Amino acid sequence: MRTEAEKEYLIRAIDASGQTFIIVSTEFEIIAANKFTMGLYPNFIGKNCHEHLYGLGAPCENCAAIKAMELKQPALRDRNNGDTYQHWKSCRFSYPIYSEKNNDIEAMAMIDFERTSSEEMEGKLKRTNAFLRNLILSSVDGVIAADKTGKILVFNEAAAEISSYSIKEALDHLDIRDFYPGDKARDIMKKLRSDDYGGKGKLKSYQVDVLRKHGETIPINLNAAIVYEGKKEVASIGFFHDMRDELKMKSDLEKTQGQLLQAEKMSSLGKLSAGVAHQLNNPLGGITLFAKLILEEYELEENLSEDINRILQDAQRCRDTVKELLEFARQTSHMIRLQNINEALARTLFLLENQSLFQNIKIDKNFSTDLPQVPVDIQQINHVFMNIILNAAQAMDGDGKLKLKTSRSKNKERVIIEISDTGPGIPEDALEHIFEPFFTTKEEGKGTGLGLSMVYGIIENHGGKISAHSKAGKETTFIIELPLTVENREGENSGE
Ligand SMILES: Nc1ncnc2c1ncn2[C@@H]1O[C@H](COP(=O)(O)OP(=O)(O)OP(=O)(O)O)[C@@H](O)[C@H]1O
Ligand SMILES: [Mg+2]
Repeated sequence: MRTEAEKEYLIRAIDASGQTFIIVSTEFEIIAANKFTMGLYPNFIGKNCHEHLYGLGAPCENCAAIKAMELKQPALRDRNNGDTYQHWKSCRFSYPIYSEKNNDIEAMAMIDFERTSSEEMEGKLKRTNAFLRNLILSSVDGVIAADKTGKILVFNEAAAEISSYSIKEALDHLDIRDFYPGDKARDIMKKLRSDDYGGKGKLKSYQVDVLRKHGETIPINLNAAIVYEGKKEVASIGFFHDMRDELKMKSDLEKTQGQLLQAEKMSSLGKLSAGVAHQLNNPLGGITLFAKLILEEYELEENLSEDINRILQDAQRCRDTVKELLEFARQTSHMIRLQNINEALARTLFLLENQSLFQNIKIDKNFSTDLPQVPVDIQQINHVFMNIILNAAQAMDGDGKLKLKTSRSKNKERVIIEISDTGPGIPEDALEHIFEPFFTTKEEGKGTGLGLSMVYGIIENHGGKISAHSKAGKETTFIIELPLTVENREGENSGE
């Protein structure tokens, strides 16, 4: 038996507790409670617990007291769907109080017992871990975490895709330094520890190359952080965003911008050339006319008539150049008809083949047999082929292989003509200028540099595209695309 003093201390201990403590009868009447509970629910002694705590007319379905009475042992209130701690209020656990006489259950001690059991805590921890793991694994960016020594601790699918290492490989054998070329991993850690790259322990939006399994590198955008425990560094974590698509898009955009600029430049140069050509046309006509008159009307000494003939020849050369300039500037009239491109190429070859420049050139024709007819001005297109083929023959210095290929584009809307030669190629810095008027690498008097600018103008005017590709020291290929319908044309008046 306890002394009065012991009983007194026990009551004071229960009152000192910050948890609810209620005693209910087997009829669910609240018999007693500690001070803490009385503070929460004043005036509830003598009332029904289900009524007073939950506003119910009958005992709760998942009542711990009922369970404890049935089992004759301590019981835990069952969780109902959606139950939270708030729903359990004050009676999470129920401990039967036995009668001292006959061992029957006399009443129930009900405790909220907020602290979760160790198993429950473990379960919660497991669930949180699984959630975090899923979060990391399903991230579209690569996530790599490493401990202080560099050993990989976390490595997700996206990191595997970027680095081409498997997750197992990375976790079993790799070190964070294996993912960066040279001394870059050290450099990154240095930046992470500095204040200058997004704050101490952080590195924001840092462009760096990642080393893949087979040695190639790919550009990534890295966000990284040091993981601290207190003030101690325990790990580092990096989020890797593959930049290949973005960089490609950027470079395509720059290329398109460049092409637009080039087209604009060509168009203004064209207009300027056309203006000059018009101005020159009349005086050149006058020079030719009067020179001819002098030759016809005067009996000239041989020397003098030779000089006048020279004037006539040079004036004719000037007129030819003027004509080409006007052509380039699209000032001449067009005759658009459906034409067979294979035949046009064959005709141009026929004209050139017998010239001495072509004697040692092997010609390789690969013409598509089901090429549809294309609406073009045949004279202009012949001119295009003639210029490109002549350039090729000149580049090969009369010795090499000339390849001509025709085909249809994948979407069937265009005809593609490829003309390549095994000449010395075009250096990269020259490649971007070859379509500009007056750009030539040929000796003075051997080339005007107007050939390709004219070709460019004609193809544009037909709503087509032309591009040149070259491998230095090896070959050059010109690719022409011509649309099959007049409506497909991108340019302005493509023919009248
Ligand atoms: N197939 C080719 N191989 C190597 N370089 C080439 C080739 N085609 C063109 N080029 C380069 O492009 C330049 C420009 O060519 P373009 O036809 O416009 O002028 P050109 O041939 O020099 O003179 P023109 O054609 O007026 O007589 C050439 O001078 C040459 O440097
Ligand atoms: Mg040329």
